[in-house]
Amino acid sequence: MKYYLLFLFILSYSFLQAQNQKVFMPGEIWKDANGDPVNAHGGGLLYHNGTYYWYGEIKKGKTWRVEYVTSWEDYRVNAGGVSCYSSKDLLNWRFEGVALKPNTADSAHDLHTSKVIERPKVIYNEKTKKFVMWMHVDSEDYGYSRSGVAVSDKPSGPFTYVGSVRPNGAMARDMTVFRDDDGKAYHFYSSENNATMHVCLLSEDYLSHTTTEKRILINQSREAPAVFKFNGKYYLISSGCTGWSPNPASYAVAGQILGEWTEYDNPCAGPGADTTYGAQSTYVQPVMGKKNAFIFLADRWNKLDLEDSRYVWLPMVIKNGKPVIEWRGQWDLSVFK
Ligand code: GAL
Repeated sequence: MKYYLLFLFILSYSFLQAQNQKVFMPGEIWKDANGDPVNAHGGGLLYHNGTYYWYGEIKKGKTWRVEYVTSWEDYRVNAGGVSCYSSKDLLNWRFEGVALKPNTADSAHDLHTSKVIERPKVIYNEKTKKFVMWMHVDSEDYGYSRSGVAVSDKPSGPFTYVGSVRPNGAMARDMTVFRDDDGKAYHFYSSENNATMHVCLLSEDYLSHTTTEKRILINQSREAPAVFKFNGKYYLISSGCTGWSPNPASYAVAGQILGEWTEYDNPCAGPGADTTYGAQSTYVQPVMGKKNAFIFLADRWNKLDLEDSRYVWLPMVIKNGKPVIEWRGQWDLSVFK
Protein backbone atom coordinates (compact mmCIF):
# COMPACT_ATOMS: atom_id res chain seq x y z
CA MET A 1 0.00 0.00 0.00
CA LYS A 2 2.80 2.39 1.02
CA TYR A 3 4.62 1.73 -2.26
CA TYR A 4 1.40 2.06 -4.20
CA LEU A 5 0.75 5.54 -2.71
CA LEU A 6 4.35 6.57 -3.35
CA PHE A 7 4.01 5.39 -6.94
CA LEU A 8 0.78 7.38 -7.36
CA PHE A 9 2.43 10.44 -5.85
CA ILE A 10 5.42 10.24 -8.20
CA LEU A 11 3.13 9.64 -11.17
CA SER A 12 0.90 12.64 -10.47
CA TYR A 13 3.91 14.82 -9.59
CA SER A 14 5.63 14.12 -12.90
CA PHE A 15 2.33 14.59 -14.73
CA LEU A 16 1.83 18.02 -13.13
CA GLN A 17 5.45 18.93 -13.82
CA ALA A 18 5.06 18.04 -17.47
CA GLN A 19 1.74 19.87 -17.77
CA ASN A 20 3.16 22.92 -16.18
CA GLN A 21 5.64 24.25 -18.64
CA LYS A 22 5.35 27.97 -18.04
CA VAL A 23 8.24 29.28 -20.08
CA PHE A 24 10.17 28.40 -23.22
CA MET A 25 13.71 27.31 -22.32
CA PRO A 26 15.69 27.25 -25.55
CA GLY A 27 18.35 24.53 -25.61
CA GLU A 28 17.04 22.69 -22.51
CA ILE A 29 15.36 19.27 -22.55
CA TRP A 30 11.68 19.83 -23.37
CA LYS A 31 9.32 17.25 -21.90
CA ASP A 32 5.93 16.32 -23.28
CA ALA A 33 2.83 15.68 -21.15
CA ASN A 34 4.03 12.11 -20.48
CA GLY A 35 7.33 13.42 -19.12
CA ASP A 36 9.30 12.16 -22.14
CA PRO A 37 11.63 14.47 -24.09
CA VAL A 38 9.90 15.80 -27.19
CA ASN A 39 11.29 13.95 -30.21
CA ALA A 40 10.41 16.15 -33.20
CA HIS A 41 13.53 17.44 -34.92
CA GLY A 42 13.77 19.54 -38.08
CA GLY A 43 10.11 20.12 -37.39
CA GLY A 44 7.27 22.30 -38.46
CA LEU A 45 3.97 23.41 -36.96
CA LEU A 46 0.41 23.43 -38.21
CA TYR A 47 -2.38 25.43 -36.61
CA HIS A 48 -5.71 23.76 -37.16
CA ASN A 49 -9.09 24.37 -35.44
CA GLY A 50 -7.59 26.01 -32.37
CA THR A 51 -4.78 23.47 -31.87
CA TYR A 52 -1.12 23.63 -32.77
CA TYR A 53 0.44 20.43 -34.13
CA TRP A 54 4.18 19.88 -34.10
CA TYR A 55 5.63 17.38 -36.59
CA GLY A 56 9.25 16.36 -36.58
CA GLU A 57 11.89 13.74 -37.26
CA ILE A 58 12.04 10.96 -34.70
CA LYS A 59 15.70 10.55 -33.88
CA LYS A 60 16.13 7.61 -31.56
CA GLY A 61 18.97 5.32 -30.58
CA LYS A 62 22.57 5.15 -31.57
CA THR A 63 24.22 7.81 -33.73
CA TRP A 64 27.02 6.68 -36.03
CA ARG A 65 29.02 8.07 -38.90
CA VAL A 66 28.68 6.71 -42.42
CA GLU A 67 32.37 5.90 -42.91
CA TYR A 68 32.59 5.87 -46.70
CA VAL A 69 31.31 9.47 -46.87
CA THR A 70 34.47 11.46 -46.28
CA SER A 71 33.74 14.90 -47.75
CA TRP A 72 31.42 15.83 -44.85
CA GLU A 73 30.41 14.52 -41.44
CA ASP A 74 27.60 12.13 -42.29
CA TYR A 75 26.35 11.32 -38.79
CA ARG A 76 23.00 9.56 -38.68
CA VAL A 77 20.49 7.55 -36.70
CA ASN A 78 18.03 5.04 -38.09
CA ALA A 79 15.12 6.88 -39.72
CA GLY A 80 12.41 6.79 -37.06
CA GLY A 81 9.52 8.29 -39.02
CA VAL A 82 7.63 11.45 -38.14
CA SER A 83 6.15 12.28 -34.75
CA CYS A 84 3.14 14.46 -34.01
CA TYR A 85 2.47 16.45 -30.84
CA SER A 86 -0.45 18.76 -30.07
CA SER A 87 -0.77 21.85 -27.91
CA LYS A 88 -3.13 24.71 -27.17
CA ASP A 89 -0.51 27.06 -25.74
CA LEU A 90 2.70 26.17 -27.65
CA LEU A 91 4.37 25.27 -24.34
CA ASN A 92 2.73 22.05 -23.21
CA TRP A 93 2.79 19.31 -25.83
CA ARG A 94 0.94 16.01 -25.91
CA PHE A 95 2.39 13.13 -27.90
CA GLU A 96 -0.18 12.13 -30.54
CA GLY A 97 1.89 9.22 -31.81
CA VAL A 98 4.00 8.35 -34.81
CA ALA A 99 2.20 10.19 -37.61
CA LEU A 100 4.26 8.57 -40.37
CA LYS A 101 5.83 5.22 -39.60
CA PRO A 102 9.20 4.18 -40.97
CA ASN A 103 9.38 0.97 -43.01
CA THR A 104 11.22 -1.86 -41.29
CA ALA A 105 10.77 -4.60 -43.90
CA ASP A 106 11.74 -3.35 -47.35
CA SER A 107 15.25 -1.91 -47.61
CA ALA A 108 14.40 -0.37 -50.99
CA HIS A 109 11.50 1.68 -49.58
CA ASP A 110 11.98 5.46 -49.22
CA LEU A 111 10.98 5.28 -45.57
CA HIS A 112 13.13 2.28 -44.62
CA THR A 113 14.97 2.80 -41.34
CA SER A 114 18.29 2.69 -43.22
CA LYS A 115 17.27 5.83 -45.14
CA VAL A 116 16.89 9.50 -44.22
CA ILE A 117 13.55 11.19 -43.41
CA GLU A 118 14.03 14.86 -42.60
CA ARG A 119 12.27 18.23 -42.18
CA PRO A 120 8.62 17.06 -42.40
CA LYS A 121 6.08 19.87 -42.85
CA VAL A 122 2.30 19.54 -42.93
CA ILE A 123 -0.32 21.77 -44.57
CA TYR A 124 -4.07 21.39 -44.73
CA ASN A 125 -5.90 21.36 -48.06
CA GLU A 126 -9.34 22.90 -47.65
CA LYS A 127 -10.61 21.55 -50.97
CA THR A 128 -9.66 17.91 -50.46
CA LYS A 129 -9.94 18.09 -46.62
CA LYS A 130 -6.63 16.24 -46.45
CA PHE A 131 -3.53 16.91 -44.39
CA VAL A 132 -0.51 16.79 -46.67
CA MET A 133 2.99 16.11 -45.38
CA TRP A 134 6.07 16.88 -47.45
CA MET A 135 9.51 15.78 -46.31
CA HIS A 136 13.06 15.30 -47.48
CA VAL A 137 13.76 11.62 -48.16
CA ASP A 138 17.24 10.45 -48.90
CA SER A 139 19.73 7.59 -48.97
CA GLU A 140 22.30 7.43 -46.17
CA ASP A 141 24.85 9.27 -48.35
CA TYR A 142 22.25 11.93 -49.27
CA GLY A 143 22.65 11.13 -52.98
CA TYR A 144 18.98 10.25 -53.55
CA SER A 145 17.87 13.88 -52.75
CA ARG A 146 14.12 13.66 -53.23
CA SER A 147 10.94 15.00 -51.70
CA GLY A 148 8.43 12.56 -50.25
CA VAL A 149 4.74 13.19 -49.75
CA ALA A 150 2.15 11.58 -47.47
CA VAL A 151 -1.56 12.24 -46.74
CA SER A 152 -3.96 11.84 -43.88
CA ASP A 153 -7.59 12.62 -43.04
CA LYS A 154 -6.61 13.69 -39.55
CA PRO A 155 -3.90 16.07 -38.37
CA SER A 156 -2.37 13.48 -36.06
CA GLY A 157 -2.29 10.83 -38.78
CA PRO A 158 -1.69 8.07 -39.55
CA PHE A 159 -0.27 9.47 -42.79
CA THR A 160 -0.16 7.25 -45.87
CA TYR A 161 2.98 7.55 -47.94
CA VAL A 162 2.31 8.45 -51.58
CA GLY A 163 5.85 8.44 -52.98
CA SER A 164 8.77 10.69 -53.76
CA VAL A 165 9.92 12.97 -56.58
CA ARG A 166 12.74 15.09 -57.80
CA PRO A 167 10.54 18.14 -58.49
CA ASN A 168 10.66 18.86 -62.22
CA GLY A 169 13.74 16.68 -62.32
CA ALA A 170 15.67 18.78 -59.80
CA MET A 171 17.49 17.57 -56.68
CA ALA A 172 15.68 18.41 -53.46
CA ARG A 173 17.12 18.26 -49.95
CA ASP A 174 16.30 20.68 -47.06
CA MET A 175 12.78 21.95 -47.57
CA THR A 176 9.63 23.55 -46.28
CA VAL A 177 6.12 24.15 -47.55
CA PHE A 178 4.16 27.38 -47.31
CA ARG A 179 0.41 27.72 -47.71
CA ASP A 180 -0.58 31.21 -48.80
CA ASP A 181 -3.79 33.06 -47.80
CA ASP A 182 -5.35 32.26 -51.20
CA GLY A 183 -4.96 28.52 -50.60
CA LYS A 184 -2.06 28.07 -53.00
CA ALA A 185 0.86 26.15 -51.58
CA TYR A 186 4.56 26.35 -52.42
CA HIS A 187 7.46 24.01 -51.90
CA PHE A 188 10.84 25.58 -51.06
CA TYR A 189 13.80 23.25 -51.40
CA SER A 190 17.58 23.39 -51.61
CA SER A 191 18.42 22.17 -55.08
CA GLU A 192 21.28 21.90 -57.55
CA ASN A 193 23.41 20.13 -54.96
CA ASN A 194 22.33 22.71 -52.34
CA ALA A 195 23.71 25.63 -54.37
CA THR A 196 20.37 27.19 -55.29
CA MET A 197 16.94 27.27 -53.65
CA HIS A 198 13.84 26.51 -55.70
CA VAL A 199 10.27 27.69 -55.04
CA CYS A 200 7.64 25.62 -56.78
CA LEU A 201 3.87 26.00 -56.87
CA LEU A 202 2.19 22.76 -55.83
CA SER A 203 -0.84 21.30 -57.60
CA GLU A 204 -4.30 22.15 -56.23
CA ASP A 205 -4.35 18.98 -54.13
CA TYR A 206 -0.80 19.78 -52.88
CA LEU A 207 0.34 16.27 -53.86
CA SER A 208 2.51 17.12 -56.84
CA HIS A 209 4.56 19.88 -58.41
CA THR A 210 3.49 22.21 -61.17
CA THR A 211 5.99 23.59 -63.65
CA THR A 212 5.55 27.07 -62.14
CA GLU A 213 8.86 27.38 -60.46
CA LYS A 214 11.54 29.93 -59.66
CA ARG A 215 15.24 29.65 -58.81
CA ILE A 216 16.15 31.95 -55.94
CA LEU A 217 19.22 32.65 -53.78
CA ILE A 218 21.19 31.49 -56.81
CA ASN A 219 24.57 29.95 -55.94
CA GLN A 220 24.20 31.15 -52.35
CA SER A 221 24.28 27.61 -50.89
CA ARG A 222 21.42 28.13 -48.43
CA GLU A 223 19.41 25.45 -46.67
CA ALA A 224 17.03 24.91 -43.71
CA PRO A 225 14.38 27.24 -45.23
CA ALA A 226 11.66 28.74 -42.99
CA VAL A 227 9.03 30.89 -44.71
CA PHE A 228 6.42 33.30 -43.37
CA LYS A 229 4.35 36.26 -44.51
CA PHE A 230 3.98 39.64 -42.85
CA ASN A 231 2.20 42.77 -44.11
CA GLY A 232 1.86 41.30 -47.59
CA LYS A 233 5.55 40.43 -47.92
CA TYR A 234 7.15 36.99 -47.95
CA TYR A 235 10.16 36.23 -45.76
CA LEU A 236 12.57 33.34 -46.01
CA ILE A 237 15.06 32.60 -43.25
CA SER A 238 17.76 30.06 -44.06
CA SER A 239 21.13 28.74 -42.91
CA GLY A 240 24.42 28.15 -44.66
CA CYS A 241 25.47 24.60 -45.64
CA THR A 242 27.72 23.28 -42.87
CA GLY A 243 26.06 19.95 -42.12
CA TRP A 244 25.15 19.51 -38.45
CA SER A 245 27.37 22.45 -37.41
CA PRO A 246 25.71 25.82 -36.86
CA ASN A 247 26.41 28.92 -38.93
CA PRO A 248 24.90 32.41 -39.33
CA ALA A 249 21.32 32.64 -40.61
CA SER A 250 20.22 35.09 -43.26
CA TYR A 251 16.87 36.26 -44.58
CA ALA A 252 15.37 37.25 -47.89
CA VAL A 253 12.21 39.23 -48.69
CA ALA A 254 9.90 39.22 -51.70
CA GLY A 255 6.75 41.10 -52.67
CA GLN A 256 5.58 38.06 -54.64
CA ILE A 257 6.41 34.53 -53.68
CA LEU A 258 7.56 33.64 -57.20
CA GLY A 259 9.03 37.08 -57.79
CA GLU A 260 12.36 38.66 -57.00
CA TRP A 261 13.82 37.81 -53.60
CA THR A 262 16.13 40.39 -52.07
CA GLU A 263 18.75 38.91 -49.78
CA TYR A 264 19.71 40.44 -46.46
CA ASP A 265 22.01 39.46 -43.64
CA ASN A 266 21.48 37.86 -40.27
CA PRO A 267 18.11 38.35 -38.52
CA CYS A 268 19.73 37.22 -35.25
CA ALA A 269 21.25 39.85 -32.98
CA GLY A 270 23.46 39.88 -29.87
CA PRO A 271 25.75 37.20 -28.44
CA GLY A 272 25.49 33.88 -30.31
CA ALA A 273 24.00 35.48 -33.42
CA ASP A 274 26.93 34.28 -35.57
CA THR A 275 25.93 30.64 -34.97
CA THR A 276 22.14 31.19 -34.76
CA TYR A 277 22.65 30.51 -31.02
CA GLY A 278 24.21 27.16 -31.83
CA ALA A 279 21.20 26.13 -33.91
CA GLN A 280 19.72 25.96 -37.41
CA SER A 281 16.39 27.28 -38.66
CA THR A 282 13.52 24.91 -39.32
CA TYR A 283 10.26 26.87 -39.15
CA VAL A 284 8.58 30.18 -38.30
CA GLN A 285 5.23 30.00 -36.53
CA PRO A 286 2.92 33.03 -36.25
CA VAL A 287 1.43 33.28 -32.74
CA MET A 288 -2.32 33.14 -33.29
CA GLY A 289 -4.35 36.05 -31.97
CA LYS A 290 -1.36 38.42 -31.86
CA LYS A 291 -0.04 40.80 -34.47
CA ASN A 292 3.59 40.85 -35.46
CA ALA A 293 4.35 37.94 -33.13
CA PHE A 294 6.31 34.96 -34.44
CA ILE A 295 8.28 32.07 -33.02
CA PHE A 296 11.54 31.23 -34.73
CA LEU A 297 12.08 27.47 -34.44
CA ALA A 298 15.58 26.07 -34.73
CA ASP A 299 17.44 22.84 -34.00
CA ARG A 300 20.56 22.69 -31.89
CA TRP A 301 21.99 19.51 -33.38
CA ASN A 302 24.14 17.19 -31.33
CA LYS A 303 25.91 15.37 -34.15
CA LEU A 304 27.42 12.72 -31.84
CA ASP A 305 24.08 11.96 -30.19
CA LEU A 306 21.39 13.17 -32.59
CA GLU A 307 18.58 12.01 -30.29
CA ASP A 308 19.77 14.58 -27.76
CA SER A 309 19.53 17.47 -30.24
CA ARG A 310 17.63 20.34 -28.61
CA TYR A 311 15.06 22.90 -29.69
CA VAL A 312 15.78 26.60 -29.77
CA TRP A 313 12.52 28.51 -30.00
CA LEU A 314 12.84 32.28 -29.80
CA PRO A 315 10.42 35.18 -30.16
CA MET A 316 10.63 37.14 -33.38
CA VAL A 317 9.10 40.46 -34.42
CA ILE A 318 9.43 42.48 -37.59
CA LYS A 319 10.90 45.94 -37.04
CA ASN A 320 11.02 48.30 -40.01
CA GLY A 321 10.66 45.35 -42.37
CA LYS A 322 13.47 43.35 -40.74
CA PRO A 323 12.92 40.19 -38.68
CA VAL A 324 14.60 40.54 -35.29
CA ILE A 325 15.57 37.54 -33.19
CA GLU A 326 17.43 37.81 -29.89
CA TRP A 327 18.57 35.18 -27.43
CA ARG A 328 16.49 34.59 -24.31
CA GLY A 329 17.29 31.89 -21.76
CA GLN A 330 13.63 31.83 -20.70
CA TRP A 331 10.59 33.57 -22.09
CA ASP A 332 6.84 33.36 -22.57
CA LEU A 333 4.26 34.80 -24.96
CA SER A 334 3.88 37.97 -22.84
CA VAL A 335 7.02 39.27 -24.61
CA PHE A 336 4.66 40.08 -27.47
CA LYS A 337 2.44 43.12 -27.06
C1 GAL B 1 22.11 19.81 -42.60
C2 GAL B 1 20.63 19.79 -42.85
C3 GAL B 1 20.01 18.79 -41.92
C4 GAL B 1 20.67 17.45 -42.17
C5 GAL B 1 22.17 17.57 -42.01
C6 GAL B 1 22.91 16.29 -42.33
O1 GAL B 1 22.78 20.69 -43.39
O2 GAL B 1 20.07 21.05 -42.65
O3 GAL B 1 18.62 18.74 -42.10
O4 GAL B 1 20.39 17.04 -43.47
O5 GAL B 1 22.66 18.56 -42.86
O6 GAL B 1 24.28 16.47 -42.11
